Amino acid sequence: MSTRETTVDKSARRVQTMFGEIAPKYDFLNNLLSFGLAKRWRRRFVRTVFARLAERSEVSERLETLDVATGTGDVIAEETRQWTRRKLADKLGVREFRPVGVDFVPQMLALARKKVQAVEFVEADGCALPFDDERFDAVTISFGLRNMVDPAKGIAEMARVCRKEGVVAILEFSPTKFPLFAPLFRFYFHRVLPAIGERLMKNRSDAYRYLPESVDAFDSSEKVLEYMRAAGLKTPTRRAMTFGVLGMFVGVKE
Ligand SMILES: C[S@@+](CC[C@H](N)C(=O)[O-])C[C@H]1O[C@@H](n2cnc3c(N)ncnc32)[C@H](O)[C@@H]1O
Repeated sequence: MSTRETTVDKSARRVQTMFGEIAPKYDFLNNLLSFGLAKRWRRRFVRTVFARLAERSEVSERLETLDVATGTGDVIAEETRQWTRRKLADKLGVREFRPVGVDFVPQMLALARKKVQAVEFVEADGCALPFDDERFDAVTISFGLRNMVDPAKGIAEMARVCRKEGVVAILEFSPTKFPLFAPLFRFYFHRVLPAIGERLMKNRSDAYRYLPESVDAFDSSEKVLEYMRAAGLKTPTRRAMTFGVLGMFVGVKE
């Protein structure tokens, strides 16, 4: 068994219903409840992915990325922004950039399609990706892995569709152990955030109660690194961000 026993219901049906309900307010709440930090986190995440891609010895004509559990497409929007602003075609020596997003909630994908046009968004389960082996140069997931019933399978799928020397990167919350900051954050995450979320959602969804519960119930960072190694990703690393509130995991496909 690859996942820890938890009392949190992470069944696909529950997760799909919940994200379907909050989809119209997802971006607004995400920004508000993270004090605008979510944008910065994704910016750093995408920067790191492109930096790792720049280290590769073999470069193809076209750069293809896959964002799993893409939601409203924020990671892809950030990739596209950086691609243009930072003139990455020249820096990476690639002519074309083609990102693809996957999510299993159609309401989230509808918003993603509006946000980033001319990008392929596919409705599929991250644990059974409908793509050939070794197709993508980079495969990312941000705030999606802890929702999966089997995160080890999710990581194995990401690694399967990633090319050799390609990058697999994960951004995910973790229960912070930072002295002084941890109790404050716990109070915010477990009390304040669900209260605001429920109020703004007019009690139509328990998503903001699920959020802290799913973070507490999620596998340890050591376990995530273990899943990455087992999936054939060499020397995976984890970097703590914002007082350990979240971690960025990066591995390169062997
Ligand atoms: C918290 S949102 C994160 C969205 C986006 N990545 C971001 O950074 O804002 C989690 C997303 O994961 C999706 N998701 C959860 N489990 C999934 C699975 N097994 N397959 C595909 N998508 C999944 C949900 O539908 C939801 O859109």
